[in-house]
Amino acid sequence: MQSLEAKPQHPPDYYSQLDWQRGYDSQPGEFAYWIDDCEGEIPAALTGTLFRNGPGLLDVGGEPIGHPFDGDGMICQITFQNGRAHFRNRFVQTEGYLAEQQAGKILYRGVFGTQKAGGWLANLLDLKIKNIANTHVMYWGDRLWALWEAAEPHRLDPHSLDTIGLDSIDGLLQPGDAFAAHARIDPGSVETGRWATTPTGDRRFVNFAVKPGLSTTITIFELDETGKLVSRHAHSVPGFAFLHDFAITPNWCIFFQNPVSFNPLPFVLGMKGAGQCISLDAKQPTRALLIPRDGSRSLKVLEMPPCFVFHHANAFESADGQQVTIDSVCYDSFPTLEPGQDFRAVDFERLPPGQLWRFEMDLVGDRVESRCLETRCCEFPSLHPNAVGHQHRYLYIGAARSPEGNAPLQAILKIDVQTGDRQLFDLGVRGFGGEPLFVPNPTGQTEDDGWVLLLTYNAERHASDLVIVDAQDLSLVARLQLKQHIPYGLHGSFVPQVFGI
Ligand code: CO
Repeated sequence: MQSLEAKPQHPPDYYSQLDWQRGYDSQPGEFAYWIDDCEGEIPAALTGTLFRNGPGLLDVGGEPIGHPFDGDGMICQITFQNGRAHFRNRFVQTEGYLAEQQAGKILYRGVFGTQKAGGWLANLLDLKIKNIANTHVMYWGDRLWALWEAAEPHRLDPHSLDTIGLDSIDGLLQPGDAFAAHARIDPGSVETGRWATTPTGDRRFVNFAVKPGLSTTITIFELDETGKLVSRHAHSVPGFAFLHDFAITPNWCIFFQNPVSFNPLPFVLGMKGAGQCISLDAKQPTRALLIPRDGSRSLKVLEMPPCFVFHHANAFESADGQQVTIDSVCYDSFPTLEPGQDFRAVDFERLPPGQLWRFEMDLVGDRVESRCLETRCCEFPSLHPNAVGHQHRYLYIGAARSPEGNAPLQAILKIDVQTGDRQLFDLGVRGFGGEPLFVPNPTGQTEDDGWVLLLTYNAERHASDLVIVDAQDLSLVARLQLKQHIPYGLHGSFVPQVFGI
């Protein structure tokens, strides 16, 4: 959360903006094939399925969309078994995707700035929003969901990626209900020091839903291993809240209510997307909202210096339960585009970089202390699944090649929060990344025994590579060359089940 004013300009050789832009070409094709082009060897112990979601189309019928977050969700599935890998991608067959593909033009306004042709008049009072199912893909209780935070999930067949339809989760959700895209999986009774991934049977899928307004209602849902609802409770907080992600500990769900205001008038009048009507008020504090997981008490609110957060890495409690620590990627303003600005022409230097911060919350004294763990521009943190909600030592995060300023993510950074050690896997000047995912070695004995998987855009080939690195030293294990490019994505997950082959 430093001022960028005094920062030097980047040396020009970190990346080319033209290379970066081509990673946002639409990918209308759907493919299924064994990946034969592979540098290195896929570890035999790496067994399971990587699912990843993100915008597949950045235009509709040649008409560009206004922001990549408005692009139709496309799922990639990469299945690993016996040292081989199989690739498949499919679009989520949402109502909006099907209607727009048939019409060959944009029919819906996007939350982040996509407007129908015809200027503000054509968009006036059109508040109909498309559930684009493009943010995350998670498997739980025999269901694969494409998640988008403002509406119900789409259920998919985990083998074929066929869209089954909107899922009410056995009546849990009513039509139009929100279900966040960032569920957390509580690993259950994992003993400290045990990093092998044997299922314990008491894992929980913890998610939330936000109903914004003058006051904001946050509903917490917990599902057991079979997908059955085990708890649901709702809490109201004053003011508008933009809550994309949260973190959990055994006792708490933790949200950051960023000091943002929402002025809906330009959205209602058709001049801006809803996401462009949000602004950060840097004079107001950020509020940490701690909601008890058991729903027995009302929520606890702690004030701290203003910042904006999309993603949290992890949270954990002290042994006496009196302190909660959370690591989060913070921005010192809300990164947004002006209406009419082409996102491909964005000047990275003018936007704030994400930086990793640690917040130590004293629940007795109601105080929050914060410090920056990593100033290098970074986003999309990941960690060992058995560390979720517990004290972690290692984080893996997408990072810029340049140690300073804002830039595209072109590296994987491993951070040892205990010693402060850093390791960097650099994709090179023509490689672009996103969310790295840590996948544990099933027989692993240490927290970093496993691999980090990253789907990259390789501008050299105008195609994507799936990069596998050793999580202990970030050395390259294998680079799998896909036959086509996949536009930059958002979130994904790995499950040990073998699907789709
Ligand atoms: Co996210």
